[in-house]
Amino acid sequence: MTEELVLHPSDDPATQSNYDDIATTHLHLDWTVDFSQSFIRGSVVHSLLAKKNGINQVVFDSSFISIKRIVEVKDEKEIGELKWHLPKRNKSMGSALKVELGRELKKGDNVEVKIEYSTTDECTALGWLTPEQTDSGKYAFLYSQCQAIHCRSLIPCQDTPSVKATYSAVVHSPLPILLSARRTSPPPSAPQPEIDGQLHTYKFEQSIAIPSYLIAIAGGELAFKALGERTGIWAEPGMLERSAWEFQEDAEKIVSGLEELVTPYVWGRYDALVLPASFPYGGMENANLTPALIVGDRSQVDVLGHEASHSWHGNLISCSDWASFWLNEGWTTYTERLLTGKLHGNPASRDFEYIIGEKAMKDDLKRFDKDGLRFGQRLHIPYEKGVDPDDVYSSVAYDKGANFLYCLEKTVGGLEVFNPYHKAFVKKFSGHSISTQDWLDHFWSYWSQFPEKEKLLKEKVDFDAWLNGEGLDLPVKMEYDTSLADASYALAASWDSARSLPREELVKKFSKADIEKFQTNQVIVFLETLAGKDSFEKNQEAIEVMEEVYGFLETKNPEIKLRNFLVSLKAGLYATEAAAFVRTVGRLKYVRPIYRAIFEIEPELAKKTFLESKHLLHPIARTMVARDLGLEK
Ligand code: BES
Ligand code: ZN
Repeated sequence: MTEELVLHPSDDPATQSNYDDIATTHLHLDWTVDFSQSFIRGSVVHSLLAKKNGINQVVFDSSFISIKRIVEVKDEKEIGELKWHLPKRNKSMGSALKVELGRELKKGDNVEVKIEYSTTDECTALGWLTPEQTDSGKYAFLYSQCQAIHCRSLIPCQDTPSVKATYSAVVHSPLPILLSARRTSPPPSAPQPEIDGQLHTYKFEQSIAIPSYLIAIAGGELAFKALGERTGIWAEPGMLERSAWEFQEDAEKIVSGLEELVTPYVWGRYDALVLPASFPYGGMENANLTPALIVGDRSQVDVLGHEASHSWHGNLISCSDWASFWLNEGWTTYTERLLTGKLHGNPASRDFEYIIGEKAMKDDLKRFDKDGLRFGQRLHIPYEKGVDPDDVYSSVAYDKGANFLYCLEKTVGGLEVFNPYHKAFVKKFSGHSISTQDWLDHFWSYWSQFPEKEKLLKEKVDFDAWLNGEGLDLPVKMEYDTSLADASYALAASWDSARSLPREELVKKFSKADIEKFQTNQVIVFLETLAGKDSFEKNQEAIEVMEEVYGFLETKNPEIKLRNFLVSLKAGLYATEAAAFVRTVGRLKYVRPIYRAIFEIEPELAKKTFLESKHLLHPIARTMVARDLGLEK
């Protein structure tokens, strides 16, 4: 990390901050959390470094923040009030907070700016839950989601992944608090302060520089259980044992498995935090602390593997702007799947993950197949100024990205040849924010050491098609080991061809035994394959019989529920059951496709369900579903 890196200049179109002139190197938060009125108030002190001569202004991103006062600080003392103004709000980027420094800085000068502020009701990063929405029903709950550009509604900051800063925090709260940082006081293993209605103080340190989107907070009745030496789990006390069971087997193996595949884990601890079902994502790689959902059958541990892989791809090497988001998610998905193969001791299970991912990617490519949206089919997304990356969020970055890397691995002759390159890439860019172009430059410089491989890569891989191509398919047809999927394919084919048989014949032909030996993922592939066939609209009876014999409506596993609803809604069935399900969860992966599918067949039911239950969703999910249903705020 000592070698001087020359990176392509970044110009993040989703920020209004002047991070190219002057950038935050550390931020210190002093917060008080008000659960009864749902806001955070306090201050942030930015330590800034001028990158050019003649800088007399700092511009921060902010969104729906109420500013009280801004002062310059030196050696922890306030030395003078600073002038500031907030020009008119940009719809997706928010309000640029312009702070006058009152003098001109020279390149290399430091300045500390303290902003006193509070969040507001319109904050898009924070989800506030009432006691009724928690497991115990006793206390309120708070959680955040800052990726992609929501940190600015929690902290006035330079909200671009190009800027990396360390942070420290002091938080005063009546309920236990966690941040994406090491809790120095009280440490996790010490007794928790009592929940006695008084404010207690929690202190934190994040000593590795991270982009703003990895800053996170959670608060509520949270208890801790260690899983391994550097892994543990936080959850409401009533869920702690269940949650620990879910991850116990795998947490430590995930971290050490990844260390073998990549490089040593540098973050110290890796803890998971169980969030309520309204959390909009399945997981989020917040530094040191990954929110995770539990389903009760350990089938979601690959989410933990995914988020842990971000510790290298995303958190150590970050995309410099959202155009290169695939460097985060594509590399992470590629690595997560390598890990799955390694932990299962079976290379077929690695390929199985690619097979599972294919359906969602194809659906998303189709969703973007309209004039004005095709840029979402690209791996490297050419954003225009001010486009909200949430609008283009899809599985393309994940699956096209992972397939691209897998294709490169196969082209150079397999993992043995590719893994040293993977490690070299991580070593080269750890601690930095990079663009697709930086990745490409290093890629070619690495392979130029191996002229035969370089030649193969140049001849066999169409880089432009992978990175900038549009369309409904990958640039090449990938060949996977289908041994784990074959039984699912066969069962789907069998239902497909039997679809018009009379009920009595169907009942004879199929039975619960068909899927009894299936792992959860094999059920998923069965349903996804079925969803890819012609709709069962004219063969509703077949879907009803499928329900009778397999009972998918009764399953607790949300991944199976999702795929089952997609098959049956397409056939015009079970809209009521699907609507009941989306009232209870908030994960975008489930709510968006299910709402869209209900909307196709019963638009009024979709809208009514959403309007009645939207207060239970996180603000990010609320906006996205409203848009999908044509109910834009
Ligand atoms: N970093 C993402 C979540 C994210 C991406 C939030 C972009 C906001 C903007 C996280 O790592 C993720 O990918 N979550 C997935 C689960 C994963 C197992 C594929 C999800 O939520 O579905
Ligand atoms: Zn991810």
